[in-house]
Amino acid sequence: MDRFYITGGHPLRGTVPISGAKNATLPLMAAALLCDGPSVLTNAPDLRDVDTMAQVLAAVGASVTVDQGQVIVDPAGFDHPEAPYDMVRKMRASIYVLGPMLARLGCAKVSMPGGCAIGARPIDLHLRGFEALGAEIAIEHGDILAKVPRLRGSDFSLSGPSGSSIGATANVLMAAVLAEGQTIIRGAALEPEIVDLIDFLTQAGAQIEGAGTSTLTIEGVDSLSGHEHRVIPDRIEAGTFLAAGALTKGDVTLEGVEPDHMGRTIELLEEVGADIEQGEGTLRVTRDGPLQPVAVRTLPYPGFPTDMQAQLMVLCSLAEGDSTLTETIYPERFIHVSELNRMGADIHVFSATATVRGVERLSGAPVMASDLRASAALVLAGLIAEGVTEILRVYHIDRGYERIEEKMASLGAHIRRAGPGEVEVDW
Ligand code: EPU
Repeated sequence: MDRFYITGGHPLRGTVPISGAKNATLPLMAAALLCDGPSVLTNAPDLRDVDTMAQVLAAVGASVTVDQGQVIVDPAGFDHPEAPYDMVRKMRASIYVLGPMLARLGCAKVSMPGGCAIGARPIDLHLRGFEALGAEIAIEHGDILAKVPRLRGSDFSLSGPSGSSIGATANVLMAAVLAEGQTIIRGAALEPEIVDLIDFLTQAGAQIEGAGTSTLTIEGVDSLSGHEHRVIPDRIEAGTFLAAGALTKGDVTLEGVEPDHMGRTIELLEEVGADIEQGEGTLRVTRDGPLQPVAVRTLPYPGFPTDMQAQLMVLCSLAEGDSTLTETIYPERFIHVSELNRMGADIHVFSATATVRGVERLSGAPVMASDLRASAALVLAGLIAEGVTEILRVYHIDRGYERIEEKMASLGAHIRRAGPGEVEVDW
């Protein structure tokens, strides 16, 4: 298994391109199953999760090519309504095939995802939406069994205890576009990735009103056509590089970014001490003063994203004072805390709130990557820590950041990937 070695203390400077969004690409790949004819997704990131989704689509009969920022999905052979445990356990987003299976094949057998490193992740809202569209659903032997002669439009809410759900909105929307009659989804997610999915479906011939609002009105159509679509930039990768620039007191310009998709992230990074200039498709980050403590709650878009909580925590760990970070989306998503504390941070978690007491410095240590964003936080911590940080199990990072070490190194970070058996380099 690969590891990263990072020697901290080098400010990041220069320009970095932002990749296409992982969390837009995965549902878009599933949505291509709804179309007659192939779809081409451009600006797709080169990631393990994209490869895994390609395997899932191949398992259900589609042909998929992933090559140099382009994913081509030909759904001609899509006839196998089954996504087994081996795939779903590798990547929860495999569940995105459920909506297209019901819409096009009228039945589905998809392994029920379990919890994961960031805590419990129920899918009751997905199932609620499919039932509202007329599907019969049973859970047997760990599988979701769903069937329906023809989906029928209806009016329902997908809002859950933490507000809207990105996954449920995308999955149920994919089913509703080919349902008979009108569907109204209330409590829909507002995230840019959902708007991107709506753009794709609309271009394919779907009739959807209300993109970017909490009420989506869909008039079902009989068929959709494959086409070419450019994936939106990854707002979480962008936020991670902004955090890296601010943390190291560097001067980093992000290219190919969509500033309007950043929600509260830019404001929060500014509150913590970053200076951020917005341009046309660019964001530039610098920092002069000390890091300042903040009090923040993660929320659905446009609130501060849970996918940036761990990265913000690294900035807070070096701030002049105490910060509080409260998770309202995944109350247990604090797996990075014990690793950051090994590097000298002073963080305590009680209930769903982490209290971060600012310290003067972090020191390099061997640490373990766990979930994707927790791992990104460890890379950030390594960039600023004294000495060498060794990050084990970097395959978690490869799931969602395209060549993060190459991008960081191009900005001046001293970071190196080592394969099994290789030893640390002397910088
Ligand atoms: N929820 C339910 N029932 C459901 C679905 C969700 O109660 O049926 C709850 C969840 O437990 C959570 C909240 O609703 O409290 C929001 O979950 P959501 O469904 O929006 O999450 P998701 O679609 O499973 C996506 C991203 C995650 C990101 C979350 C929250 C993808 C592939 N994944 O997951 O991304 O953390 O939204 O923004 O889009 C990551 O990229 O590292 C990652 C984990």
